[in-house]
Amino acid sequence: MSDVSLRSPGQAERLTGRDTDLGLIRSFLADAATRGGALLLSGEPGVGKTALLEAAASTATAAGSLVVRAAGAEFEAEVSFSGLNQLLLPLIEDLSRLDGSLRDALSVALGLCEGAPPDRQVVADAMLALVGQAADGRTAAAAAGR
Ligand SMILES: Nc1ncnc2c1ncn2[C@@H]1O[C@H](COP(=O)(O)OP(=O)(O)O)[C@@H](O)[C@H]1O
Ligand SMILES: [Mg+2]
Repeated sequence: MSDVSLRSPGQAERLTGRDTDLGLIRSFLADAATRGGALLLSGEPGVGKTALLEAAASTATAAGSLVVRAAGAEFEAEVSFSGLNQLLLPLIEDLSRLDGSLRDALSVALGLCEGAPPDRQVVADAMLALVGQAADGRTAAAAAGR
C-alpha cells in the first residue's frame, strides 16, 4: 500500500468522484466502531481500491482509532500467518502482557519462537486480545490490501 501517496487526514477529499464511496466508508467505520464489521473493496486493478483504503485508514486514524495494516504479496501466500505478522508487528511490544497460552500461540504464529503449529482459533483469540490491549479503549481498525 505504499504505492499511493495519500497519507494524512484530509487528503481523502482530493479523490475525484469518490464522495459517495467515501461517505459509505465513513458510515461503515462509524458503525463498525460500536458493532464491529468487515468491508471488502473489490475491483479491477487501477480502479482506486488502495486509494480508498488509504482514505479509510486516514479517516480512522483521524477519529482516534488504532489502525494496523498489511499488504498482500503473492509470494507470501504459502507462508503461514504472513498477513497476521504484518498486521501485528507494530504491536509486538504488547505481546509480553498477554496471558501465557495466548502469548505462546501468537509468538509461534508470528515466528518469534519455535513450537508446534498453534491452533488457529487460539491465534485468533490472541490477536483480538493483543489488538484490544494495544488499542487501550480506542477503536481498532485493520486495513489490508495491495
Ligand atoms: N478517485 C481518485 N482520484 C484521483 N486519483 C485516484 C483516484 N483513485 C485512484 N487514483 C490514483 O489512481 C492510481 C491507481 O489507484 P489504486 O488505488 O492504486 O488502484 P487499485 O488499488 O485499485 O489497483 C493511483 O495513482 C491513485 O492515486
Ligand atoms: Mg491497490
